[in-house]
Amino acid sequence: MTDYRALLEVQELVRRFGGVSAVDSVSFGVAEGELRGLIGPNGAGKSTLFHLISGHLHPDSGTLSFRGKRIERKPPAARARLGIAITFQTVHLFNGMTVLENTMVGGHAWTMHEWIEASFRLPRHHREERLIKEQAAWALERVGLDRFMHQPAESLPLGRQRSLQIARAICSKPELLLLDEPATGLRAEERRDLFALLGKLHTEGLTMILVEHDVGFVTSIAERITVLDRGHVIAEGTPEEIQYDPLVITAYLGTATSDESAGIR
Ligand SMILES: Nc1ncnc2c1ncn2[C@@H]1O[C@H](COP(=O)(O)OP(=O)(O)OP(=O)(O)O)[C@@H](O)[C@H]1O
Ligand SMILES: [Mg+2]
Repeated sequence: MTDYRALLEVQELVRRFGGVSAVDSVSFGVAEGELRGLIGPNGAGKSTLFHLISGHLHPDSGTLSFRGKRIERKPPAARARLGIAITFQTVHLFNGMTVLENTMVGGHAWTMHEWIEASFRLPRHHREERLIKEQAAWALERVGLDRFMHQPAESLPLGRQRSLQIARAICSKPELLLLDEPATGLRAEERRDLFALLGKLHTEGLTMILVEHDVGFVTSIAERITVLDRGHVIAEGTPEEIQYDPLVITAYLGTATSDESAGIR
C-alpha cells in the first residue's frame, strides 16, 4: 500500500440513457487536497459523471466511496452534508431571491437545526441563520460579488451567476467541490479572478474537480487530468503527459468542429 489517500474513489461506474452509455466503466480516485482536471469532447460524459458524484443521478452499476464510505445510493442532500458540493454547467438559481439568499442556501448543508426549530423560530435556528448569513457574505466577497448582495440573483449577467454558484458552494463548507465549466461566459478579467480564487482554495487544501472546455485553463491549474471520451477514461496524468497522449489528441481532433474549444492546446 502507498500513503495515497483517496478522498473520492470511483469504481466501474456506469450510467446509460436509453442506448447511450454516457458513463461507461469509469474508475478513478482523487486524493485529498488535489485539484483534478476533467476534460473531454462534447458529450464525453463529464456532466453525467459529476451528477453521479453529487447524487443528482444514480448509477446503473458501480460504486462511489467518499472518505472510504459508500455513497452511491445516498440522495444529493446527504452527500452535500458529507461535504460534496457542485456548481452546475447549466446555472441553477432561485429566481425571486437575492444574491445573498441564494448563497445562504448552501449554508443549510451544515446547519444542525431541524425544520421544527425553524418553523417555531427557536433560538438555535436564529443563531444558525445569523452564522449562515455571515458565511454567505464572506463567500460572496471571495468570488467578488459582495457588492451585488441585495440584488435579485436573476439580475446578474450569466458569468456572474456562475460565480454566484461558486459562492453558494463555498458557503456549504465543502470538502470536495465539483466545478462544471465555471469559466464559461466570464470576461477576461473575471476569468483571471476565478483562476486566482481556485488557486487560493487549492492552497487552503480544498479538493476540487474542474471540468472546463478551455484546456489551457485546466492545464495551467490542475495537477493531474483525467480525460473522458464517449463515457470512457482514455487517459490520466499530468498536464504534460495528457497533452501529448495520442488517444487524447485523436479524441479531440476526431470531434473537431467549428467550436474553438474542440482542440487540445
Ligand atoms: N438526461 C439525459 N437524457 C438522455 N441523454 C443524456 C442525458 N444527459 C446526458 N445525456 C447524454 O449522455 C452523453 C454524455 O452527456 P454529458 O452531458 O454528460 O457530456 P459532457 O461531457 O458534459 O458534454 P459537454 O462538454 O457538452 O457539457 C451525451 O451523449 C448526452 O447526449
Ligand atoms: Mg457537460
